Amino acid sequence: MSDSKPSLPHILGGPKAVTIDGTEANRWPIITEEDQAAVLEVLRDGDLSLHPVTRQLEDDYRNYFDVRHAIAHCNGTAALLAAFFALDLQPGDEVLVPSATFWASVVPMLWVGAIPVFCESETQRMGLDPDDAEAKITPQTRAMVVVHLWGMPSRMSALLDIARRHNLKVIEDASHAHGATWRGRKCGTLGDISVFSLQGSKLAPAGEGGILLTDDDTYMQRVASLGDITRILELPSPEQRFAATSFGIKTRMAPLSAAVARVQFRHMPERNRRRNENLRYLSTALEGMGFNTCLSPPHVERVYFEYMIRYDDERGNPPIEALMEALRAEGCDAQWPRYPLVHQQPIFTEGCFAKIAGIAGRSNSTLPAYTENALPKTEAANRQFLKLPAFPSAEPDLLDQYIAAFKKVLAHADEISAAWCRST
Ligand SMILES: Cc1ncc(COP(=O)(O)O)c(C=O)c1O
Repeated sequence: MSDSKPSLPHILGGPKAVTIDGTEANRWPIITEEDQAAVLEVLRDGDLSLHPVTRQLEDDYRNYFDVRHAIAHCNGTAALLAAFFALDLQPGDEVLVPSATFWASVVPMLWVGAIPVFCESETQRMGLDPDDAEAKITPQTRAMVVVHLWGMPSRMSALLDIARRHNLKVIEDASHAHGATWRGRKCGTLGDISVFSLQGSKLAPAGEGGILLTDDDTYMQRVASLGDITRILELPSPEQRFAATSFGIKTRMAPLSAAVARVQFRHMPERNRRRNENLRYLSTALEGMGFNTCLSPPHVERVYFEYMIRYDDERGNPPIEALMEALRAEGCDAQWPRYPLVHQQPIFTEGCFAKIAGIAGRSNSTLPAYTENALPKTEAANRQFLKLPAFPSAEPDLLDQYIAAFKKVLAHADEISAAWCRST
């Protein structure tokens, strides 16, 4: 990087900082001949429903995470439904959840009659805020869902302590956190049940798929009874008596997806390393410019499902919208975070949740009231994030161009702010 004064930003008429095409640097998933061969093997074998590759994938997960049970699902959403079902939650039981997550961390619980209680996300790691979660515990609270958002492990010491003191079960939604560790323990082994999505953008993708992990035999049996219509046949009686119907759904994973998932999972550690290296390099530069890049504290090894950086609104110059526009003009692939807050969605604010959860007949005073402005801290924090590519295969020259783009834009913050104010 040169130390000379940055040239004029492109938005003010200067040259673009990012001239390297980032398509290959950001291509994800990385599909090689190994994936193709694995898929072809299943196709040639010809059993597209019950090919042993799905069980082999489960073995891979069991061995890697050193857990008793790994159960493949058709997607992470189905695995989360199975997790809620496994806990034997009763209608009206409450579950503490974050709102800053993908909806599947929360909404499937409605189908077993459980009621989400939305809690603030703490602003350091954007996981469930232990203080707010504890304040929202009632005699009906049975469980909490912990999400390691974007690959950053949540504040597990405090959350596990709350769970222990209040006798709550912990569902760990580790969908973003393949390969992350907390105090030397792998994310995905920290809760009573954990779930990974293997959807196509995840760190060990299958296309569509999900894995549920648990050490608990009873949970495993309930998970199988819900919809794993192969495994249900292998359960000891009396659970096996449901084999002819399951509980009305079918959650088995497609072997073609499992074939891809095995290859991707095998490469996950080395591909995570590359992302981490690239994003630590970029983060060091951006931290030096005043951004909070959500670096791991020393006892945590985060991974990067997505790369979010935080821009302090208070700083106000340029406003975040102007910053975004100026970065995009430089050629940066900068985006807004893509998850809308779950508690603000019409399924909750318009009351549809009550019908799904089977509590629509309750008097209004006993129905949970979901209001859009219920989580001011989460809302404020959520507005401060910008998403940049996760650079899974980038070389330093592209990262340097992004750094140059940020430098340029910040060096001309006043002019950019003024131009943005005039245009709005
Ligand atoms: C945090 C989180 N949980 C759950 C899911 C649901 O997984 P799937 O898309 O595989 O159903 C996702 C996925 O996309 C997710 O990001």
